[in-house]
Formats: sequence, structure tokens, C-alpha cells
Amino acid sequence: MSTGQGPLGEAELDDWYAVPSDRAAGRWVRGGFITTLDGRATGPDGRSGSLNEGSDGDAAAFATLRRWAQAVVVGAGTAREEGYGPLEGKALVVVTRSGEVPVELADHPGVHVVSGGGEDVTPEQVLDVCAGHGWDRVVVEGGPALFGAWVRAGAVDELCVTVRPVLAGGDGQLLLPGSATLSGPTGRLTHLLEWEGDLLLRTRLR
Ligand SMILES: NC(=O)c1ccc[n+]([C@@H]2O[C@H](COP(=O)([O-])OP(=O)(O)OC[C@H]3O[C@@H](n4cnc5c(N)ncnc54)[C@H](OP(=O)(O)O)[C@@H]3O)[C@@H](O)[C@H]2O)c1
Repeated sequence: MSTGQGPLGEAELDDWYAVPSDRAAGRWVRGGFITTLDGRATGPDGRSGSLNEGSDGDAAAFATLRRWAQAVVVGAGTAREEGYGPLEGKALVVVTRSGEVPVELADHPGVHVVSGGGEDVTPEQVLDVCAGHGWDRVVVEGGPALFGAWVRAGAVDELCVTVRPVLAGGDGQLLLPGSATLSGPTGRLTHLLEWEGDLLLRTRLR
């Protein structure tokens, strides 16, 4: 396992988040999240904003993953809640059952809406869209509902998570809501970066 301490500059972060050499070619799917120590992905405001406020480490990790990615995948709930817009020089893939995506995303050439017509969209369907465009480097930015489905389907290679040293309690959204997934150790921590009290983890899931 690699350990380190921030702050790191952009080039160092790009190295820190480099894909393992045995998987340098082909598809690599990452989840990018922030949580509290008790695994909450939303704070008292019901969003992630109250968790990442003041975390330079998380902002740096988020920006690094976006720099790396060719496609950013997000559930329509997060797109609506967090006010996602089209991304500069990068594809945004919005996943929805209902097809209800914000108007500014609906008809933009840089935004790809994958709708299940009322049904679940599988990770394979989304990844097929990505493959069709030649996008191998994929980051799933959430939310927890979408990410949970991807983890359960075994579609995520790596979870990159910022853990903030706070206990949120309450009924905030868990990083992985829904039915239990653990049947034994499923992840391997490969990188641990401490940055002004926050922990930036890279955990390999497969
Ligand atoms: N801590 C973090 O790092 C982090 C990251 C992202 C989001 N968040 C927070 O999480 C909250 C939202 O949580 P959430 O779990 O509801 O977000 P979400 O997964 O983005 O949104 C749920 C919606 O996304 C679509 N969706 C999800 N899974 C789907 C699937 N398998 N197939 C088809 N559509 C699917 C559906 O959209 P339709 O309703 O259109 O059918 C569903 O209602 C926000 O408040 C946000 O702030 C936190």
C-alpha cells in the first residue's frame, strides 16, 4: 500500500491516481465519493455540499478524477440535486429510469442521457454507450443509489473516497444504501493519502 501526505500539486496527484500498470490498457471504472466516518454520503442539508465544504483534499481528488476521466457518469437524482451542467471537454452521462433530466442537460451534445424507460438501467448498458464512444476511463460520481447498483453488479474497479473525520449520525444517505453487499472482504486498500486531517483512499474492488 502507498501512503502519503498532502497537499500535493496537480502533477503529483495525477501520478497518485494513476491506474495500476496491469490495467493500463482497457476499461477502468472508478467511483468518486466523499463520506463521513460513519459512512454518510449526505450531511444535514441532504446533499454532499455540507460534507466537502472546506476540504481542499476532496476538491483536489475530485478535480483529479475528472481530469483523468473521459466520461463522468451520474444518476439523475444527483444531477438534479447538485445542479449538474454540461462538462467542459468531457462527456457527462446521466442515468435515469424516468427520463426526467434537467432541460439544460436534455439536449446538449456533451450530455448523454441513458434512460431505462421506467426500468433500471444496468451498468453494462451505460458502459456500452461509453465503449461506443471509445471512453475507457469512467468515473461514477454517484449518487449512492446508482453507485450501489454498480457495486452490486461488480462493475466498479476502484472506489476513490475522501473520508472526513466527522460523525454525522442522523438519517443522511449512506454511501451504499439498500441491501447488504458484504460476504467477506471485498476491497483492497492500495493508497492512503492524509490531507489536512482528511483521508483520501483508493480501494480496489476487483
Ligand atoms: N457524498 C458524495 O460523494 C455524493 C455523491 C453524489 C451524490 N451525493 C448526494 O446523494 C444525493 C442523491 O442520492 P441518490 O442516491 O438519490 O442519487 P442518484 O443515484 O444520483 O439518484 C437516484 C436517481 O438516479 C436514477 N438512477 C439511479 N440508479 C439508477 C438505475 N440503476 N437505473 C436507472 N436510473 C437510476 C434515477 O433517476 P430518475 O428519478 O430520473 O428515474 C433515480 O431516481 C444528493 O443529495 C447528493 O448530494 C453524494
